[in-house]
Amino acid sequence: MAYQIYPRSFCDTDGDGVGDLEGIRAHLDHLVAVGVDAIWLSPFFSSPMADYGYDVADYCDVDPLFGDLDDFDRLLADVHARGLRMIIDWVPNHTSVEHPWFVESRSSPDSPKRDWYVWRDPAADGEVPNNWVESLTFGPAWTLDPVTGQYYLHCFLPEQPDLNWANPDVASAMADTLRFWLDRGVDGFRMDVVHLIGKDPELRDEPPEVAGLPHTILNVRPETHEHLRTLRKLLDSYPGDRMAIGEIYLLDTELVASHYGNNDELHLCFNFPPLYSKWNAADWRQRITETEAALSAVGGWPTWVLSNHDNPRHRTRYERGLGPTSSPDDVRADGELIARAAAVLLCTLRGTPFLYAGEELGLSDAMIAPQRQRDPAGRDGCRAPIPWDATPSHGWVKDDNWLPWPPDSDSRNAESMVDDPTSIFHLYRKVLALRRNTSALQLGSIGLLDSPPDVLAYRRSHEGGFVSIAVNMSDAEIDWMPGGQVLLTSDGHSARRTLGPYQAVIVGE
Ligand code: NOJ
Repeated sequence: MAYQIYPRSFCDTDGDGVGDLEGIRAHLDHLVAVGVDAIWLSPFFSSPMADYGYDVADYCDVDPLFGDLDDFDRLLADVHARGLRMIIDWVPNHTSVEHPWFVESRSSPDSPKRDWYVWRDPAADGEVPNNWVESLTFGPAWTLDPVTGQYYLHCFLPEQPDLNWANPDVASAMADTLRFWLDRGVDGFRMDVVHLIGKDPELRDEPPEVAGLPHTILNVRPETHEHLRTLRKLLDSYPGDRMAIGEIYLLDTELVASHYGNNDELHLCFNFPPLYSKWNAADWRQRITETEAALSAVGGWPTWVLSNHDNPRHRTRYERGLGPTSSPDDVRADGELIARAAAVLLCTLRGTPFLYAGEELGLSDAMIAPQRQRDPAGRDGCRAPIPWDATPSHGWVKDDNWLPWPPDSDSRNAESMVDDPTSIFHLYRKVLALRRNTSALQLGSIGLLDSPPDVLAYRRSHEGGFVSIAVNMSDAEIDWMPGGQVLLTSDGHSARRTLGPYQAVIVGE
């Protein structure tokens, strides 16, 4: 189980209203108590924060908001002392406009770093060089630079110019940034939209049938695979197990799977179609089937993620019915039960689960008033600060921080969840402990079971050991249960012959 920390939102210790590395260090025992194996830190590097750290101005330094390199070294040492691993975010596709490379590149068409970014003359009509769309505000992926009269490419905000990985000097300078952190002892990287680093050298228009979709979800290139093989060799040249998980933001699992290569590209890839699935057994059966088919074809190990810093928390999505085809008014009453069943689902599928900080507390998104909104892409709700206790400042220094608290923080905070043996925190703890002690859950193959339509049921098998999981995705009691001895129920009710509303069970044979 890997646990994602968004440093701005985890815990502030210096009173600036933004979380910091010391705040993470202060709560490592909480992570041990949950039972996580590894931590992924979202960016903490020097940045003007146009995209809250995904616009990096120096890959090899800590932004003063978060601390400094000594704080980082202390944090890493404490993480390792607890037997945990730490992976950090690496943002290879783009830098900040304030990165010295871009400052130099934009200064003149003759700059030695001009070709480190993607510059093009205006089209014949004076407009943008192609029809690509950026991913955060869905505007054109090009900005005209008045200094030289050329456009530069940015698949995200104009403050995030794309690097030109076709230039070997860029590839080499970026490899150096990996070495910097590998030498400091990190266990690996979450590579931000890494499928974007290989690009069509001709930068051709998107075909008409997909024109208007962000280029990020369309970029599939052989050049990316070449770069990934080089990066893999770099990781493999280091002692110990260093790993890379790629954020492959393609919404087709077979395309995602191709980035595992022949076990010579990424170790793991995020696969987002399940995150965008509704809370619906038929959809989930399909997601599991397609994930198994696509990943076994390449011998890849799956990953599962329900929430992250880019999407409403899954509790909020399921609660409010914010799935892609539901109406926002479709509010679900049973959010807590669904969140608990989702915990069992996430931790029992075949593959590595990624838990977004706060899911173990059953948090919902904060409601953000328009005047408090920060993110140009509207992702603030899931980035609300983590409440650690019931005091007005909830374990932060101040009660008013960069974003407002999530709902019910007086009663729903880490301390109250830990104190309540029936809470979702203890459910996660128990499922993860069971997973750690059950090889079928950790390593077993997965097969779907025949079950009533609203029940998602599957069986994990490993070396003669079997465990079945059933998730009732409906609000009705269902007269069905896999055979065997119930080891755990998501709602804490003792086992019956039937599945309760939104109840998940783990059954041993
Ligand atoms: C994906 C990250 O998860 C997201 O937060 C960011 O805005 C984009 N990549 C650009 O770096």
